[in-house]
Amino acid sequence: MFDARYSIRSHVAGSLRAENVGETVTVAGWVHRRRDHGGLIFIDLRDRSGLVQCVFDPEASGEAFVLAERVRPEWVVQLTGTIRPRPEGSVNPNLETGAIEIVITSAEVLNTSETPPFEVDAASETDETLRLKYRYIDLRRPEALDALILRDRVTQRFRKSLEHRGFLEVETPILGRSTPEGARDFIVPSRLNPGEFYALPQSPQLFKQLLMVGGVERYYQIARCFRDEDLRADRQPEFTQVDIEMSFVTQDDVITMMEDVMHEVMREADVDLVTPLRRMTYAEAMDRFGSDRPDLRFGMELACLSSVFAESEFKVFASVLAADGRIKGINAKGAGDWSRGRIDALNQVALDAGAKGLAWVAFPTEGDVRSPIAKFFTDEEMAGLKKALDVEPGDLVLMIADGHGVANEVLGVLRLHMAEELAVPRVGFETLWVVDFPLFKWDAEEQRYAANHHPFTRPFDEHVDWLEERPLEVLSYSYDLVMNGLEIGGGTLRIHDVALQRKVLGILGHGEVQAEEQFGFLLEALSLGAPPHGGIALGLDRLIMVLAGKHSIRDVIAFPKTSSGSCPLTGAPGEVSARQLREVHLKRD
Ligand code: AMO
Ligand code: AMP
Repeated sequence: MFDARYSIRSHVAGSLRAENVGETVTVAGWVHRRRDHGGLIFIDLRDRSGLVQCVFDPEASGEAFVLAERVRPEWVVQLTGTIRPRPEGSVNPNLETGAIEIVITSAEVLNTSETPPFEVDAASETDETLRLKYRYIDLRRPEALDALILRDRVTQRFRKSLEHRGFLEVETPILGRSTPEGARDFIVPSRLNPGEFYALPQSPQLFKQLLMVGGVERYYQIARCFRDEDLRADRQPEFTQVDIEMSFVTQDDVITMMEDVMHEVMREADVDLVTPLRRMTYAEAMDRFGSDRPDLRFGMELACLSSVFAESEFKVFASVLAADGRIKGINAKGAGDWSRGRIDALNQVALDAGAKGLAWVAFPTEGDVRSPIAKFFTDEEMAGLKKALDVEPGDLVLMIADGHGVANEVLGVLRLHMAEELAVPRVGFETLWVVDFPLFKWDAEEQRYAANHHPFTRPFDEHVDWLEERPLEVLSYSYDLVMNGLEIGGGTLRIHDVALQRKVLGILGHGEVQAEEQFGFLLEALSLGAPPHGGIALGLDRLIMVLAGKHSIRDVIAFPKTSSGSCPLTGAPGEVSARQLREVHLKRD
């Protein structure tokens, strides 16, 4: 409860109601707006709880009236007066305190303010960099504050729900060794150890595993993580995970625990999460939606058209099929009448996503077909295409012929692009588990296998024998929590057998010496009585972003960084002195 205890006020502004009529109250806050109605002055006073209208009358208010003539927006004032009902006709039903006003009898200026760089009311139209430079003014907006309030409630609920299930909150080091989550580390030079560096944690992954070896059994932490990545709307260089690890569990145990906790957490945002959640394998998600984090708020599913075009005269299709590739397509309903130029622009979207080209057939009206390649199609193929994608007049079919993976991924991108372009309605909180990820992926750039999740993920017991001969077919005990097309969280069961861990590190290209050097402490721990264990980490910022209906993660972080990783408010990152550099044994380039 937010109230006036422990303060110089008797009430918070937003709490005043008709029931308070006749009471003498003292409030304090910011001058939100001041209106001079010749004779009467009105001030809307704002504090964290809301707004209340204060009236200054030359007779009733005495000296306070003189002061009211002087105050400006964002001055900080303390006001005392008597509550009265607003006169007939001036009741404001949109304001919780709209039935009353305070007739002020005494006033004190607690602080003045320069003219603010933007009006609190106009913050949403203000350039974001300016808002971040003056984030403390931006935060005076109720909408900005609401995001922090929701974040607090959700965080507290996680704590309560997890404590209730026997999880211990344990802190892990920030100054540590590099952990391989796949991003770049932020590094910190060590003054006491010349030439050596700490890495800030990309996640507490290895420490939480060590806590399991240490017998903690159920751990959680609201953990700050650091990743030096290129930033996007849903990525920050420092972000928060609800990090969880459990011993003696199966994949189902972790998933069920998380669903129970999420059900309680989502209630804080008035969302009734219906559990058990749907589970979809990685293979199915890629096949139907072209994404391992499918947005299920709309259809536009991918269809396989390989059999329709098995005998195709169109060279591109025939050669892809001959090379064991696939032809797949989506139906963008409502784009059938798009101009040639607009469709050509989609070609670039496809190329950027990794395609070699984009094939399209538009069906603007009944009986009308536009397409640069339809001339190669037989009547039968055209009928097959229409059937496979349920084509009606007004539709635009987009097709990609390529290897299975590329065709899926490109269409996954086009599907989201078209949903955006066509303003396809997307409502609700479509939440699911994507499970059974392959253990490895092939990193073409580095010409080696890479971990799909991280190197500590446990392969399916029945696939362990395939590790050496067909590593890309090995599936893993892994699960991502996906909401509205965003990866909200992810986790895995871990390898607890030291021999298996060595083997997996070997396939990932860590020679024995290097594995020992980088992960020796983990390997040793695994050989000293490690229980079977697994866990998950939720991206707290992303979850709040979805629950608050925001489009940027920055809106739910008190002091976020810009897309270039800087803080316009404090100026971080900044230069350091030559002396500081010397102390940590660094030289400027
Ligand atoms: P992972 O790397 O999938 O797993 O991270 C877990 C979740 O953290 C969120 N997240 C981010 N949020 C904001 N900005 C970022 N830069 C960012 N990066 C990740 C995502 C993601 O789902 N240690 C493992 C978890 C485990 O195996 O238990 C891990 O960190 O929502
Ligand atoms: P081309 O024969 O290269 O002139 O291509 C004819 C049409 O097929 C063009 O519209 C290309 O964009 C399209 N196209 C080319 N390669 C592919 C592909 N791999 N998948 C789908 N369409 C393609």
